[in-house]
Amino acid sequence: MLSYPPLLLIAGAKGAVGSTVAAAIAAMKKDPDTVLPWLTTAPLCDHLGPFGSMEFSGWDASPKSINQAIEYHKVLPNKSLLNEGYLGEIRIHQAPSGELPLHAQVEQLIRDIEGFKALYPKNHPVLINLLPACRTIDLSGSDRLDRLYSHADPTKFPDLAYAIAAILTGVPVVNFTSNAIELPVIVEEALKAGVPVCGRDGKTGQTYLKVVLASALKARSLQVDGWYSLNILGNEDGRNLADPLKASGKVANKTGLLEEILGYKVGRQYGTDSHKVVIDYYPPRGDCKEAWDVIDFAGLFGLPMSLRLNLQARDSILAAPLVIDLARWMAALHAAGRSGLVPELGFYFKKPLGPNPPVTFQDQLAALDRLEVVCKEHKNT
Ligand SMILES: NC(=O)c1ccc[n+]([C@@H]2O[C@H](COP(=O)([O-])OP(=O)(O)OC[C@H]3O[C@@H](n4cnc5c(N)ncnc54)[C@H](O)[C@@H]3O)[C@@H](O)[C@H]2O)c1
Repeated sequence: MLSYPPLLLIAGAKGAVGSTVAAAIAAMKKDPDTVLPWLTTAPLCDHLGPFGSMEFSGWDASPKSINQAIEYHKVLPNKSLLNEGYLGEIRIHQAPSGELPLHAQVEQLIRDIEGFKALYPKNHPVLINLLPACRTIDLSGSDRLDRLYSHADPTKFPDLAYAIAAILTGVPVVNFTSNAIELPVIVEEALKAGVPVCGRDGKTGQTYLKVVLASALKARSLQVDGWYSLNILGNEDGRNLADPLKASGKVANKTGLLEEILGYKVGRQYGTDSHKVVIDYYPPRGDCKEAWDVIDFAGLFGLPMSLRLNLQARDSILAAPLVIDLARWMAALHAAGRSGLVPELGFYFKKPLGPNPPVTFQDQLAALDRLEVVCKEHKNT
């Protein structure tokens, strides 16, 4: 398959992350150097063409324009950063009506994707899921698409329609949300269609540093006795995650990886779990989230030590470059013939999916090196 620069098809294009990605793609059309230094893929996949040829489109339920969405989320206060001309031209489709059954939503999205492909024939479409976190829904009995169509309620889990439509039109899928769209039937359809799927739950700030620190403590045989992680955030994502049932998937993704890295349950000596993750909605912070970590660990003879970490970060500013990186990886891997789940992209996710995903920081970087070889081999064919 020939390689082209990605066309990012974003479900939730006018959200805080989506609109920041739009601003970054637009900025690269004027001057790639305003964004390139913050991309992990900047030195990779040069066969995908110039950075300024990437395109942005997608869907949202909001009637705002992209420029209005950027203003609303207040992620980018400085208007001089914006290429308002390109942003004004971006075409975002209305999300399918929640009243439609799942199969009708899929049909509508397939028509939209075919339209996007015709509009951007020199770009490689990649679907990026940036919808809000939703409550966990058990669809384990839906082992065929027709059963999924009759069992799934698209009002509670709109992500499915986007993932299915992408796969049926041969478009790779990035799941940046905590919503578990990678049902066995979805993965099976992706393998049949020959498209790669990666996820789940972008690893942007606190959890990224948790993987680094946990991997470092493990490498030194220091024993972690407890890890308390608190997040406060005041954007729409934070407001949505104030519902504990919607936050449960994200909390599980943020929690599970520590035990996987360390190889033991933190708190076993207390007879209770002493790895705690709390997410709190705190409006004054907006998109500038803050995270605290208290890490209790022990060294020789079990003597206790402790570490404090206070991260004052910007949610969407950390997330947007990773979304662009993932779109580039997926375009390159699809062109190289990869299909199904891509565990080697675990570096980017809180819950890396696929067989034997790398869990320590060192293994995640090594896995990326292996993927780079796959892409380079294809480039040279
Ligand atoms: N920012 C980060 O660091 C980060 C990290 C990991 C995961 N995530 C996840 O990424 C997702 C996006 O985050 P965000 O901050 O942009 O959220 P957001 O709430 O700002 O944006 C979500 C967008 O989805 C739109 N939407 C809702 N229902 C829709 C539908 N059915 N079809 C199309 N669009 C619809 C909304 O109108 C909104 O514009 C969330 O699930 C979040 O948890 C974010």
